[in-house]
Formats: sequence, structure tokens, C-alpha cells
Amino acid sequence: MSDAAKTPTPRQVSIAVRNIIQEYPKPGGGVTRVLDNISLDFDKPGINMLLGPSGCGKSTLLHMLGGVRPMGVQTPTSGSILIDGDPCHDAHDDSIMVFQRYANRPDLTVWENVAFPFRFALWKKRVPESEWRARVNELVEAVGLTDKQKLYPRQLSGGQNQRVALARALVLRPRILLMDEPFGALDAQTREEMQSLLIRLYDTHPCMVMFVTHDVTEALRLGDRVIVLSTQPATIADDFLIREPRPRAAGWQRGPEALALEERILAQLHKVSPGKGSLRVSV
Ligand SMILES: Nc1ncnc2c1ncn2[C@@H]1O[C@H](COP(=O)(O)OP(=O)(O)O)[C@@H](O)[C@H]1O
Ligand SMILES: [Mg+2]
Repeated sequence: MSDAAKTPTPRQVSIAVRNIIQEYPKPGGGVTRVLDNISLDFDKPGINMLLGPSGCGKSTLLHMLGGVRPMGVQTPTSGSILIDGDPCHDAHDDSIMVFQRYANRPDLTVWENVAFPFRFALWKKRVPESEWRARVNELVEAVGLTDKQKLYPRQLSGGQNQRVALARALVLRPRILLMDEPFGALDAQTREEMQSLLIRLYDTHPCMVMFVTHDVTEALRLGDRVIVLSTQPATIADDFLIREPRPRAAGWQRGPEALALEERILAQLHKVSPGKGSLRVSV
């Protein structure tokens, strides 16, 4: 293994969310409050699950954590996000987003898609060519696509396309990895395979993962910490740690601790969102 391909020491990062309120203009006038006074602290690598019903404001919060601002809307309406103690007003270099729809370039092969960020001056300057090439090879292999590296996205399945997107994100060694329902469009079996892959990749590329889902089972399978958002306007309904090491055995997932946590989440969501939004418990 080359030096470049060795597992890096995780670089610390801290994120502080302070009293965030987000309001969006309503078409007929007035505003809708989506996030209502959210405060959160993250200070060590880990997989943080942001769980809540559809439409409650998860993507809004996730984008804010990476400094991504919607067009024409003041974000946040009030409050602040601090990364390493500094106010974050713009897209942050150390945070990378993985979307549900992978965002792979159709005209580039698997290898070229993973290497794509190094076409930009910022990343070319930061990482010497021999190193980024080693990283691309390592990640293509880590996501199990070495034998498909010359294929194009249209020749791949949904799960394989999402592997490409994950590899492209990790090739930059981000300190913050933002994942917006990344496995939500996949069938149940592929979703489980991707969850297992993420667990393996996280062990070799530890960072601060913020993972949005509306799947309670997914949250309990992956999370070191689970943050439950209420329905709109979202507040923090619950926030707890799971200390069970990953990968979590089927026995644990069907055992008393997981069942109690699942009930705790569902009770919280039923309390705050009678009949609104939707949540999934996968089997
Ligand atoms: N740029 C925007 N302008 C106006 N309304 C928005 C905008 N982005 C999101 N919303 C609204 O805010 C609410 C929360 O959206 P979102 O954060 O995407 O929720 P989730 O990811 O939990 O499904 C939704 O009602 C959505 O329509
Ligand atoms: Mg969303």
C-alpha cells in the first residue's frame, strides 16, 4: 500500500449550531417556520443520524451544516453555525455532500467520476497528482468497483452508482460528510449492503458524518448518535447515543435495547406529529 493510501488519522472538527430559526416565504405572502430554535453540538468523529418525518426540515438543516445556502432566501433566518469556532457563511471546503440521486457525470467512467474533484484547481493544488491517483484507486477498490472502473453510470445499478458517489466524496478526505437520505431510493437489500459498506468505509475513513434519514431501522443500525426532529416547525424531539459497536448483530437489532429505542423514537414522533409526515421502519 502506498503512503497516500494509508488510513489517515481522523482530523478533529467541531460544529456548533446555535439557536437556528429558518423561515421560508409562503407563495401567498407571510412565512413558514421550518426550523424552530435548533441548537446542537458535535465535537468528535461519529455517525450522527438526523431522523424526522418527511418535510420536517432535515435537508434544510443538513445543507446549513455544510454552509450551503438556497437561492434568494436568507439562511438561517436567525442563529448561527460555527465550524471549529468560526461562523460558517458559505460552502465549507471540508464538508462534502452525498445526495440520494448520486450526481454522477454520465459522460465520465467510474474512475473518472471518482477522480472528478481533482479537475478543480482548489483540489489539484491541495493534493499532488500521484497522491490523488492513489486515493482514487484505493476508493474505487474499497467500494468494490475495480472491475467496473471503465464503465459509465448508465451501465451501473443504483447501488453501484451510489458507491461511485461515496468514493468521490471520500477521496477528498472530508472532515464532514453530509448524506441526504443517500440510500432512500434503493431496494431493501441494496440499502442494507450500502449500510454495511458505509460502516466499513467509516472505519477506514473516520470523519463527522451527518446522515439524514426517515428510516428508524437505518438510524439504529448506523448511528453513534440519533437526533430526532419533530414535525414542522422542527425542534429537537430527542437526542441520544448508541454505544453498541458496529456492525450491529441481527440479535442486537431485534433485541430489547434496539426495540426500546425504536419505541422511544416512534412515541416521540407520534407525540409531536399526529398523522403528519411519514416514517419508515424497515424489516
Ligand atoms: N428554498 C426553499 N424555499 C421555500 N420553501 C422551502 C425551501 N426549501 C425547503 N422548503 C420547505 O421547507 C420544508 C422542509 O423542507 P426540507 O428541509 O426539504 O424537509 P425534509 O428534508 O425533512 O423532507 C418543506 O415544507 C419545503 O417545502
Ligand atoms: Mg429532504
